[in-house]
Amino acid sequence: MTASETTAPETRPRTAARTFPPDFLWGTATAAYQIEGAAREGGRTPSIWDTFSHTPGKVFEGHTGDVAVDHYHRYPEDVRLMSELGLGAYRFSVSWPRVQPTGRGPAVQKGLDFYRRLVDELLAAGVAPALTLYHWDLPQELEDAGGWPERATAERFAEYAGLVADALGDRVKLWTTLNEPWCSAFLGYGSGVHAPGRTDPVAALRAAHHLNLGHGLTVQALRAALPGDGLVAVSLNLHEVRPLTPSAEDLDAARRIDAVGNRIWLGPMLEGAYPQDLFVDTAHLTDWSFVHDGDTATIHRPLDRLALNYYTPTVVSHVPKGAQKPQDDGHGSSEHSPWPGADQVAFHRAPGDRTAMGWPVDPSALYDLLIRTAARYPALPLVVSENGAAYEDEIGPDGTVHDPERAAYIHAHLDAVHRAIADGVDVRGYFLWSLLDNFEWAYGYAKRFGAVHVDHDTLQRTPKSSALWYAAVARTGELHAPGSA
Ligand code: FCB
Repeated sequence: MTASETTAPETRPRTAARTFPPDFLWGTATAAYQIEGAAREGGRTPSIWDTFSHTPGKVFEGHTGDVAVDHYHRYPEDVRLMSELGLGAYRFSVSWPRVQPTGRGPAVQKGLDFYRRLVDELLAAGVAPALTLYHWDLPQELEDAGGWPERATAERFAEYAGLVADALGDRVKLWTTLNEPWCSAFLGYGSGVHAPGRTDPVAALRAAHHLNLGHGLTVQALRAALPGDGLVAVSLNLHEVRPLTPSAEDLDAARRIDAVGNRIWLGPMLEGAYPQDLFVDTAHLTDWSFVHDGDTATIHRPLDRLALNYYTPTVVSHVPKGAQKPQDDGHGSSEHSPWPGADQVAFHRAPGDRTAMGWPVDPSALYDLLIRTAARYPALPLVVSENGAAYEDEIGPDGTVHDPERAAYIHAHLDAVHRAIADGVDVRGYFLWSLLDNFEWAYGYAKRFGAVHVDHDTLQRTPKSSALWYAAVARTGELHAPGSA
């Protein structure tokens, strides 16, 4: 298929309401470092993102998560906002260095207490908590000991997971091991645009394996600690890879990106083996001897949900050796590629509307991703654990934030989810990224993804018009076009 084709033509009238299954989870998502602040409170030590954001030149205008949107202190207000909006679920992450500051040893009570209070507040408000154990904030001490390229980090991760599960397993049902390990490995250790900012393709591949191993060990730790009805998932940013043309070269470029973007996780986690073509593509870099006997069996553990984060498709073509190519794949520009084994692949932005991130808006790719993933893993229910868009929102003179583009983006993507469900895909929920405007990693506070606007000077929260529309969809389970109800 070429980038300009769509697979599922829209035949139903745009105005017809779409009804979602009654038990569909409607939520928003956040991550600890992006919202909590309180970077030095309660015994918390620096994570790799504290170090990275405090390193000049790494984050837009030197922004850091020191205060972020102060969710650590304002969580009651944030939970109240969710409850007023009638959103039934909330995906958040636990800050590893808040709970286990050195990445080893016993948990710090104050850290666990914060999450206990947050979860209790959510449950009291009728909001189901969904907990992510790792959304990129590795304790700096563990990075100093070698970070994810070292095997021991995987073991430390499972120990930390056990501590959190022991403390919160009785009240949190849905658990996610890793968020987007592709970003941790390849942006963190490959292109260096994310913490810890290393630019070594071999370290990135080693990190990928140890993230996989950490996932497998953590699934075991969770199974041991959670009650029988606990659900275990992983959140992957699977790339919906589209060749620019149907040429054999472009198809091979797409295969390479699918290998190092998607199958590097899906293979060991869900099929028990790394893809052979990944070994071939990266043979000039490593012999993969860091994969020990038995590792893939450890990684390959039954999951209850596969959670997908989707924003935009990935359009690729082949470039001949030595030819100039556009470097920007939408993950930040760096002279170092985040794609080991894909030196001759160029990335293209699809035509059409773009968000403030420059990411093309293409809901058909979400539909295709859901259909393709379900065809490969038919027994595994899916969740959309992130989807959303940044736009340049402003508070109007009347004090409201009118963001019709975001509502249109969400509507189009929920419509794609609904079409996938109608076509037989078992999708159990949708988490809008994000509840609040927050620290958007290397972009700092310059990009606003929130359903709720945050004034970064006063930290005042104001639900945007898209939040009110999304809340009505969530309350009724009926998807109607923004402005039509
Ligand atoms: C995803 C991250 C999330 C947020 C969105 C925009 O890759 O998981 O933290 O930054 O992108």
